[in-house]
Amino acid sequence: MPYTIDLSGKVAAVTGGSGVLGSAMCRGLAAAGATVAVMGTSLEKAARTSDAILADGGVAMPLAVNVLERETLDAAREEILSICGNIDILINCAGGNNPDAMTSPDNTRNLFNIEQEALQWTFDLNFFGTLLAAQALAQPMAEAGQGVIVNISSMASQRPLTRVVAYAAAKAGIDNFTRWLAVYFAQEYSPHIRVNAIAPGFFLTEQNRLIVSNEDGSLTPRGQQIVSNTPMGRLGQPEELVGTLLWLVSDGARFVTGTVIPVDGGYSAYGGV
Ligand SMILES: NC(=O)c1ccc[n+]([C@@H]2O[C@H](COP(=O)([O-])OP(=O)(O)OC[C@H]3O[C@@H](n4cnc5c(N)ncnc54)[C@H](O)[C@@H]3O)[C@@H](O)[C@H]2O)c1
Repeated sequence: MPYTIDLSGKVAAVTGGSGVLGSAMCRGLAAAGATVAVMGTSLEKAARTSDAILADGGVAMPLAVNVLERETLDAAREEILSICGNIDILINCAGGNNPDAMTSPDNTRNLFNIEQEALQWTFDLNFFGTLLAAQALAQPMAEAGQGVIVNISSMASQRPLTRVVAYAAAKAGIDNFTRWLAVYFAQEYSPHIRVNAIAPGFFLTEQNRLIVSNEDGSLTPRGQQIVSNTPMGRLGQPEELVGTLLWLVSDGARFVTGTVIPVDGGYSAYGGV
């Protein structure tokens, strides 16, 4: 019997839904039948994803949200509840890096002179952007006693990548928070509220385009290093996250909580030799 995932009747809220990985996830959720609240930093950006879903025959609404401003997240929750009636699924996909928060290849921007502001910006976006979104958007789950949250981690979380000090620390925080929140919801509210994370390997997106690829599309030395350390020998395609996401939010994963699932072409399994 083929295994299909049917999310009809479910409402999914996705932060970073206008981004490269987030929009693929939104489209995947909509194709499985969910109503998708696409959250982006502006209504125009979010509408690009929601319009694509509508054009494909799905159901979606765009929302402008800053994941670092609790009021905008609360306003989004109220709008989703008033239009869709519930929030069953929350995907925390907003995130990113700031080149000013990275040590530079020649180490002129180094541990000792990286601007605190850039470090703070990166840590806040990747860690607090998820924590605040959970505070605001998971409330209906606590009230209903059911729901699913999927946070987006990174390969930088378990073994930090060189140069991206604040990003790696924030994503390590996401793995920790995922486990904490899974236990918290199961113990304090309901075992039917599950929290997991996906740790993507390397996908070519706006966030890392300049680090991974040159203008002519060829790989930079860092991009080459990434591919060499990915046993499958290539970068991922955003759609390749969707199967894992749909499984995690579906009833098929009803006994799965507190996990961080790599979708990485084998990167995390490879010792480099
Ligand atoms: N691209 C990769 O290879 C990769 C690997 C591992 C993890 N990730 C993670 O995947 C997620 C999506 O990244 P992406 O690669 O699609 O990059 P992206 O830049 O295309 O998407 C990031 C999204 O976050 C949104 N965002 C940024 N600041 C925000 C804010 N203050 N409030 C609300 N939204 C905000 C952006 O508008 C955008 O929609 C991020 O959490 C990223 O860290 C990406």
